[in-house]
Amino acid sequence: MSTVIPDRQAVTDAPIEEILAMRWSPRSFDANAVVTDEQVTSLLEAARWAASASNAQARRFIVGKRGTETFDRIERHLMGFNRTWAPNASLLVLAIAVVAPDGEQPLGAHRWAEYDLGQSMANLASQAHALGLHAHPMGGIDVAGLQAEFDLPERFLPVTVTAVGTVASPDLLPEKYRERETAVRTRLPLDELVLVRD
Ligand SMILES: Cc1cc2nc3c(=O)[nH]c(=O)nc-3n(C[C@H](O)[C@H](O)[C@H](O)COP(=O)(O)O)c2cc1C
Repeated sequence: MSTVIPDRQAVTDAPIEEILAMRWSPRSFDANAVVTDEQVTSLLEAARWAASASNAQARRFIVGKRGTETFDRIERHLMGFNRTWAPNASLLVLAIAVVAPDGEQPLGAHRWAEYDLGQSMANLASQAHALGLHAHPMGGIDVAGLQAEFDLPERFLPVTVTAVGTVASPDLLPEKYRERETAVRTRLPLDELVLVRD
């Protein structure tokens, strides 16, 4: 068994910041690694300072370290394969978009709640990398189950759960997922992504 951690740096067509090129989403996490309270606060602070429409910050988080009741309450609503690898992470972050205001007010900035939430989770992922950690977002979650579990109002929409922890050897994953863990990371070419560029 090899303990080598894959280097999954993006192969970019133009130079980008190291932190952006080096970030990737592992599934093999060290089940013995822990995150400190200081690290968790730093991750959340990075999320807090992301931009948002009208600075409305229509996003909320539920955060549990492995071994806590909150972690278990999030974990039981992961779906499919996510349930097998994500429990080894040191931290689970449930990311919630506040998709409507309280009461009868107009939608306002809440229209961009999911965009704003994504911005904050991208910040969190970058901060995780800066701390020597890795983050892996999951959309494979039971939204209604999480809403009921945490007694969330309908306007609090669970969007993702992000696993954060210390990356471990791909050999710890079931065989059929090992290859994916070490494959070259790919993206659509810029000329397909960019519809118009003058
Ligand atoms: C909104 C969102 C939902 C995702 N859902 C899952 C998921 O349920 N399970 C999973 O293993 N990966 C999930 N991913 C991870 C993506 O598959 C991964 O980011 C993508 O393949 C690019 O790989 P990279 O992050 O290593 O660059 C999700 C990513 C995002 C942004």
